[in-house]
Amino acid sequence: MERASSFVVRITSSSTSSLFFREDRSLLPRPTHQRSALRVRRALLGNSLYRRLFFWALASIFLLGLALRFTEPRLLRERVHDLTEFHDNAKSREDGEIPTKVVTVLTAGTETPEVPAWSPDMLNWLQFRHLDGFFVGLKALVPHSEYRPEHPRAAGEESPYPFTISYTGLPTPTPFVPQPDYASAEYRSQYHEVKTCYLDKDRKTRVPDTYAYHGVVQGQSEPVIGSHSLLGLRDDVCFDRFGRYGPYGLGYSFDEGGVEVGIDTEKEGSEAVWSRTGKINYENMDWGDAQTRCFESNKKRFVDASASNEPTPAKSGTSSGRPGHKHKIPRTAVVIRSYTGYRWTHHALLNFRALISELALRSGAEYGVHFLLHVRDDNEAIWADPATGQRILNENMPREFHSLCTLWSEDQMRLVYPGHFGSSFSNPSGADIHGVYRSAHLPLQVFAMNHPEYEHFWNWELDMRFLGNYYELFDRLGAWGRQQSRVGAWERSAKYYIPRYHGSWDNFTQVVHDETVASGRPAVFGPVTFPGRVPLRSELGGQSFIPASCARRTERARCGVGEEADLITLNPLFDAEDSGWVFASDVTGYPTDQPPPPRRSAIITASRLSRRLLAAMHEETWRMHHAMFSEMFPAAVALHHGLKAVYAPHPVSLDREWDLHAVDAAFNGGRDGSAGGAGSPFDLRNEHNHKGTSWYYNSEFAGLLWRRWLGYAQYDGRGPGGGRDGAGTLRGGREDEQRADGTGRMCLRSMLVHPIKWELPAEVEGYYKG
Ligand SMILES: *[C@@H]1O[C@H](CO)[C@@H](O)[C@H](O)[C@H]1NC(C)=O
Repeated sequence: MERASSFVVRITSSSTSSLFFREDRSLLPRPTHQRSALRVRRALLGNSLYRRLFFWALASIFLLGLALRFTEPRLLRERVHDLTEFHDNAKSREDGEIPTKVVTVLTAGTETPEVPAWSPDMLNWLQFRHLDGFFVGLKALVPHSEYRPEHPRAAGEESPYPFTISYTGLPTPTPFVPQPDYASAEYRSQYHEVKTCYLDKDRKTRVPDTYAYHGVVQGQSEPVIGSHSLLGLRDDVCFDRFGRYGPYGLGYSFDEGGVEVGIDTEKEGSEAVWSRTGKINYENMDWGDAQTRCFESNKKRFVDASASNEPTPAKSGTSSGRPGHKHKIPRTAVVIRSYTGYRWTHHALLNFRALISELALRSGAEYGVHFLLHVRDDNEAIWADPATGQRILNENMPREFHSLCTLWSEDQMRLVYPGHFGSSFSNPSGADIHGVYRSAHLPLQVFAMNHPEYEHFWNWELDMRFLGNYYELFDRLGAWGRQQSRVGAWERSAKYYIPRYHGSWDNFTQVVHDETVASGRPAVFGPVTFPGRVPLRSELGGQSFIPASCARRTERARCGVGEEADLITLNPLFDAEDSGWVFASDVTGYPTDQPPPPRRSAIITASRLSRRLLAAMHEETWRMHHAMFSEMFPAAVALHHGLKAVYAPHPVSLDREWDLHAVDAAFNGGRDGSAGGAGSPFDLRNEHNHKGTSWYYNSEFAGLLWRRWLGYAQYDGRGPGGGRDGAGTLRGGREDEQRADGTGRMCLRSMLVHPIKWELPAEVEGYYKG
């Protein structure tokens, strides 16, 4: 951890001048940091008279708009959990009695989707009504065995609406611990002891638990794409905002060491999440320091990269079987891509506190978290002058994360990867080959080469959230990747898995196999050949990335089972050729008088890359001067050299009641039933299908759902023409969740959401103005 690196200025806590600690220059001043949309406006509004005038004008326009809105007839009728029968318990509460039993009948939505006449066939999701179950609250929690989803349902299966719920007060959340039971005899017989890590130097404050509710909210939709149970994610628990973030500072004041967001939302029963630890004071937290201490006390557990060149053993351990032999485990880095100018918010702060706590500290340093901070101004002397580095940190990163930061710039990439890169088949963005837009992987390659202590690297972004516990997500994705056979892996990974449509994973595997056979194309296995292919040095030396066991015919089907995946993506690894994806031909350095090399791509760069994949990409870059667009290069290099790559079908929700045939037609509409080639959902003309998903760069549903879950009222994105962003009726938020006849705050099963461009309603202005 303390290694000095030759290229990258790493600012550690010890090199940080104490001057900066004494100064109260927190990046997130009290009260809550708010975004200012335009620089010009800020200057103009410096004068308080102008400011008052401006806000009066703004308020008048708003009120006028509001008046107009209410004079119009309502476009759509009320839909969400319309309560037809309710025994008011407000009175008994006033009398000081605890409500004993409340019976509520929830009815289904009555929305009639409006399909505008002009709508071409391609917007066929307009015909499906919006789902309501996502927004039902905790009072409708039922055991998993009683749960019936609003969607998807098999043909003939009855709707869960209307349903009656009975409850005695609110349910109570319990600690949710997805890490192995480190104290168990079983764990200790196989692995070295795990030393508990603490937030503070004095080892007094333990890293808190996250809390979950046992059960699922009745009627809530099931994810349509991907699956909890397939990946080993719990599908019988749900998370509310307090169980998720309360332990890290949500829901309490600055004076108590919290971040003062969430206090103004509905919060009945939220105190439970602080019952064991109290409200933790994060005021002087130094996460890098905590992470380093955690690693130091657990060093013995891990493969020592500097001590041996032997390949690291699989975590699951095909052990030597010697009694008393303890496995050492490889470590994984989570590298969060930050950049100068990013406006930190308290919600973002909470999210990364959670990520570091759950992944690095509660795992006894199995994971290490780092911020890779892109310094966008190439003129900054980030390698020459520590004071410059410190100033950039002060201006761009919350102080508590400073000691986790590595700074880099595009000029640095030009220095590390010099020379001529040849011509590109196409360059739609017109951007520079060393630039972050086309080559976001370059600094990750450099980071990996400078951090031999890690075997795998998660590339992560600031506008992603996991509604759930990060350890559960990353651990289960890694374990699932390890279990996958290499046989048919590229073909399965090229297709969205829709469990209610395809059946079990075995069914899906069969479907893909049949489609591959029918296509007449050979399945990919091992390195691919193509004109202009240049072998890696290791390949020239006779080495292969294919495990030796794969050569034995009898074991062929199990080839790769137990082998760590070199690449795990969170969207399909689709064939970019003919796909209509804008950057499909942004391929540089290969002979342009030949067809472009075969390649795969996965939209959204969030993925796990192995050290050996990053090393191959590094060599492709510096030695062969090869490059491809950011979302394509890792997958294409893995394809070319026979590395193991998988798309992990994590749970993704849809906002509308899609017919499952339509889901398959839209999302697997490419060549041979895949997501690639002609008809791909990543074709610019088809990408609109993703707007109602919970995980896609242009999703509008992800942010809406996330903010409702955080407790803020949102326009429900409904209305003529699809509505979506900022359209429809304002729903949710405190009044709605507190209503005596309401169901309380939302509780959702774990899911990834992206993109989250803003969270607090006060930030919205800046977002809409870009
Ligand atoms: C899945 O496979 C089983 C066993 O082969 C079969 O009975 C079932 O019909 C298949 N389901 C689907 C949806 O294809």
